[in-house]
Amino acid sequence: MKNVLFATSESVPFIKTGGLADVAGSLPKCFPKDKYDVRVIMPKYLCMKQEYLDQLSYKSHFYMDFNWKNQYVGILEMVHDGITFYFIDNEEYFHGSTPYGNIRADVEKFAFFSKALLSALPLIGFRPDIVHCHDWQTGLVPVYLKERFQGDEFFRGIKSVMTIHNLKFQGVWDVKTIKSITGLSDYFFTPDKLEAYKDSNYLKGGIVYADAITTVSNTYAEEIKTPFYGEGLDGLLRARSNSLRGIVNGIDYHEYNPSTDAYIVQKYDATNFRKEKVKNKRAMQEEFNLDQDDKKFMIGIVSRLTDQKGFDLIAYIMDELCQEDIQIVVLGTGEEKYENMFRHFDWKYGNKVAANIYYSEALSHKIYAAADAFLMPSLFEPCGLSQLMSLRYGTVPIVRETGGLKDTVIPYNEYEGTGTGFSFSNYNAHEMLGTIRYAKHIFNTKKREWNKLIDRAMEADFSWNVSAKKYAEMYDWLIG
Ligand code: ADP
Ligand code: GLC
Repeated sequence: MKNVLFATSESVPFIKTGGLADVAGSLPKCFPKDKYDVRVIMPKYLCMKQEYLDQLSYKSHFYMDFNWKNQYVGILEMVHDGITFYFIDNEEYFHGSTPYGNIRADVEKFAFFSKALLSALPLIGFRPDIVHCHDWQTGLVPVYLKERFQGDEFFRGIKSVMTIHNLKFQGVWDVKTIKSITGLSDYFFTPDKLEAYKDSNYLKGGIVYADAITTVSNTYAEEIKTPFYGEGLDGLLRARSNSLRGIVNGIDYHEYNPSTDAYIVQKYDATNFRKEKVKNKRAMQEEFNLDQDDKKFMIGIVSRLTDQKGFDLIAYIMDELCQEDIQIVVLGTGEEKYENMFRHFDWKYGNKVAANIYYSEALSHKIYAAADAFLMPSLFEPCGLSQLMSLRYGTVPIVRETGGLKDTVIPYNEYEGTGTGFSFSNYNAHEMLGTIRYAKHIFNTKKREWNKLIDRAMEADFSWNVSAKKYAEMYDWLIG
């Protein structure tokens, strides 16, 4: 039996701010249980859903030297869907109304989490062969593991994996403060280790010290070795390219299933979507006071409203787009300028635009089911899960060819009758608009072709099966 522990700052169903939570909560379920025991450790946030907080059971606690104090570390546990989750408890660090707040507090919070989770291992009765770390919040785990804990018999030989879900966020703060918080010596704060551009950088530490590095698509694995996508770490990633691989994300095919989804008005599948899917669109038009018309081309957006996702392109052509015979349903939160941009167009074109500036699991599923097309013109996209959810619901993605979007959406070719979506290559607003118009043209004038696109989209398999095997191969390779 191989033991793997996922160290993550978020996971469904407990807490989610983005795709990382989906991955951390769904991937562990997809390994053969007779060979791999995959468990998850995360903070116990007070802002977690109450129904889950109520179900956690106390396992143990201890006190740990951290940031010049002796600090309480509680360990709680819960088994969900056959997977054991451990939770690190410390109310001083994890009391906020969201998992992340200001970066100064966060670098301390996640240094605490990283050291605490390693210190907790001897008490939980589970010795991992591999600690699989996700994003900068757990970047210090490979560092602590290699240098601090390896002197101890229990920890000797434990390997670490660092998965980059988003290179943009690295956990950067000044060296002096981080040295003091973490207790790591001067030795670590040099440009070949934790230091980058004079500051301390958690993700860099993880990348330098992990035994293997992965990211969430092949294209992104290549892109991050270039200055444009490398966020200042491309040199390091080129240097470590032998240890870096891309493994594309999957999604939970039970959770996201149009034939069983309890959130949507009308269930459907690959055989009856021609008749049934549109009922979800009608319900949505009614709910949001949009024109009641099956022929309107409905574009869905479910996203964090940030520059990463290409919203400056959308903002640039939004007025032009609204002159078209289309409907846009948006669900998202994020940068105020984009929130207000959508509110403005909702006010200006109420029969065409529905702006929902909040977080809602239920509405996200409804949009994946109701829309004809799903727009995701990202500037960069490590993998992207929303386009996979759209494919699963037969909602045709319109994407920019970058990162995981390029790897998962096959562009429509009207001559060969192939493809699962529409895509454009340059980060250019009118190239995007042209692609949206082309998709709308196919929708309006070639219904049979459009339906065949949906056939192919729904046939595509982005369950975890294939990718979980690739992680398993990597684990085998690491621990023999
Ligand atoms: P990222 O992790 O960069 O935000 P992904 O496409 O990997 O992008 O994952 C985003 C996840 O968050 C998807 O499951 C998507 O449905 C969900 N999501 C984003 N915004 C919202 C929202 N406002 N309400 C509900 N779900 C959302
Ligand atoms: C990050 C990326 C997204 C990816 C997700 C899960 O949030 O922005 O592209 O799908 O992590 O790996």
